[in-house]
Amino acid sequence: MAGSRLTAMRDARTDSAAFRAALHELTTMLVYEAARTFPAERYPVETPVGPTQGTRLANPPLLVPVLRAGLGMADAALALLPESSMGFVGLARDEHTFEPRAYMESLPADLTGIPVLVLDPMLATGGSLEHCCRLLTERGCTDMTVLCVLAAPEGIDRLRRSGLPLRVVTASIDEGLNDKKFIVPGLGDAGDRQFGGM
Ligand code: PRP
Repeated sequence: MAGSRLTAMRDARTDSAAFRAALHELTTMLVYEAARTFPAERYPVETPVGPTQGTRLANPPLLVPVLRAGLGMADAALALLPESSMGFVGLARDEHTFEPRAYMESLPADLTGIPVLVLDPMLATGGSLEHCCRLLTERGCTDMTVLCVLAAPEGIDRLRRSGLPLRVVTASIDEGLNDKKFIVPGLGDAGDRQFGGM
């Protein structure tokens, strides 16, 4: 199921509406996988027939979509984890240096004890996600899950070398990066594919 959504996203003939729909559905699957290890707590509920034990998330996460492309994952993540709150980070990768430039940060000041789920479809060089995760650790976060659709081995290595307290959940690890630092075979520019070119 995840494979067919990912294939639709890779296909250059897929239009923006279908791309957004596939990203939404794939995000639901990725969040489900990522949330399997989130601690749950039990609490008493009454069914129409009698008492039982229910479960709920012990510590709902903060969702952080990385704008623009991560915005297309936000609705699906919030639908699956409705107890979550949401922060935003806006990053644009410079076309020449390939380093991220931050243009927005809207995050709680103190993230001590709060798990964070970072949403960005693409982990290419890893510069953007490393930058985002450093912002989170500066606020006291020690528990980050990065959710992406595609990852390049170079980006995974960079995050691993960063020593940041994070794990990556992804639908695919692709071959690598081309000379423009695009993931190969990848799916192109996830922001442009969803929202059109800038
Ligand atoms: C893309 C993508 C990631 C980043 C990945 O965003 O959504 O945020 O690049 O590249 P990296 O791992 O080498 O940093 P982009 O900067 O194109 O901005 P956009 O989401 O607004 O299109």
